[in-house]
Amino acid sequence: MKMKIAVIAGDGIGPEIMTEAVRALRTVSDRFGHTAELTEYPVGGAAYDLCGDCLPEETLQACREADAVLLGAVGGPKWDALPAEKRPERRALLTLRSELGLFGNLRPAKTWEALKEASPLKAEIVGEGIDLLVVRELTGGLYFGEKRRSGDGRSAFDGLPYSVDEIERIARTAFDAARKRRGKVTSVDKANILETSRLWRETVTALGRSEYSDVELDHLYVDNAAMQLVRRPGQFDVILTENMFGDILSDEASQITGSIGMLPSASIGAGGKGMYEPIHGSAPDIAGRGIANPLAAILSVAMLLRYSFGLADEADTVERAVGAVLAEGLRTADIARPGETPVSTVAIGAAVSAAIRRA
Ligand code: IPM
Ligand code: MG
Repeated sequence: MKMKIAVIAGDGIGPEIMTEAVRALRTVSDRFGHTAELTEYPVGGAAYDLCGDCLPEETLQACREADAVLLGAVGGPKWDALPAEKRPERRALLTLRSELGLFGNLRPAKTWEALKEASPLKAEIVGEGIDLLVVRELTGGLYFGEKRRSGDGRSAFDGLPYSVDEIERIARTAFDAARKRRGKVTSVDKANILETSRLWRETVTALGRSEYSDVELDHLYVDNAAMQLVRRPGQFDVILTENMFGDILSDEASQITGSIGMLPSASIGAGGKGMYEPIHGSAPDIAGRGIANPLAAILSVAMLLRYSFGLADEADTVERAVGAVLAEGLRTADIARPGETPVSTVAIGAAVSAAIRRA
C-alpha cells in the first residue's frame, strides 16, 4: 500500500518524539512492504517564527491532500503573548481540526501490563486493568462557539452551541466503536444545567433506541464521571462526550493508566482522513533534553495504520513492540519507577523499532 502522510512535528518536544514516531512508521512499512511517503511541514510556533503564521497555507493544503496527518505537539511560552486567534493552539490545531472536518476524537486509555504499578490509583481500584475509549466531539461546542469581550474589557463570553446533526454523528462514532469493544456507551453531559446537554442526552438516547439497541447506554453528569473515573474506572467501556468535557476527562483517563506520555489519539472525519497525535502537549519544560516519552506518538502511528489505512496487523505489530519494550524494563523518566535509571527518547524509540523489525 502507498501511504501519503503529512508529518508536522511542531514545537517543544514535538520534533524529538516525531523522529521516533517516523522511525517506527518507516520500520513497520518496510517490514510489511508498504510505501510511506512522508513529507514534513512547519506548523505551530515553529511556523510562526518562519513566516508569521502558525498554520501556513502550504501546510494546510498539504494536510488536505495527504491521506493522513501525523502531528507532534504545538505551542509554548514563547508564543503565549500572541493574540488568541494567532496562537499555535487555536490557529494551528483548532483550524486543522475544523478545516479537515475531524469531528471525532478517539482517545483510548489502557493499562499496560508492565506499567500497572505506574497508576496513581491503588491496585485494588485498577483491578484487572483499565481499558476505555474516550470519544470526544472535536469541532463544536465551546471551542468553536462565538467569543467576545465587552467594549470596556470587563466581561467576556464564550458560546456553547451544538446541533442534533453534530451530536448524532459523534454518537454514531461512539456506538460503532462500542460494538467492536464491550458493547457499552456512557454518555457524559451536564444535563441538569446546560441546554446543549439536554439536547445531547435526548439525541443520544433516541439514536441508541432506534439504531443501537444492542449497545448498552447510560448517562452520567460530568462531575460524577470525573469522580467515577478514579473510583471505579473498570466500569467504563466507551465514554461519549462533548469537546470541553472530553478534553478534561481524557487527561484524567490518561493519568490513571500511568502517564499522559503513553496516550495516542486519532481525530477522524467522514472521509477516512485522519490526524494522529499524542494527547499530551509540547512540554516546553523538558523540550530539547532528549528525555520525553515518544510512546504516545509511536502509538499514534498504530492508530494511523488502523484507522486511515485499515492495516490492523501492522498496527498490532507496533503496539506489541511497545509492550515488548516496556516488558524489557525500558522506561523514560515519566514512567520510571523510583531508583530506576530512565532511558532517553532516542533509546526507547530505537528499541521499539528494533522490536518491530524482529516481529
Ligand atoms: C488536546 C489539547 C488541546 C485541546 C489544546 C492544546 C488546544 O489539550 O488536544 O487535548 O484542548 O483540545
Ligand atoms: Mg487536552
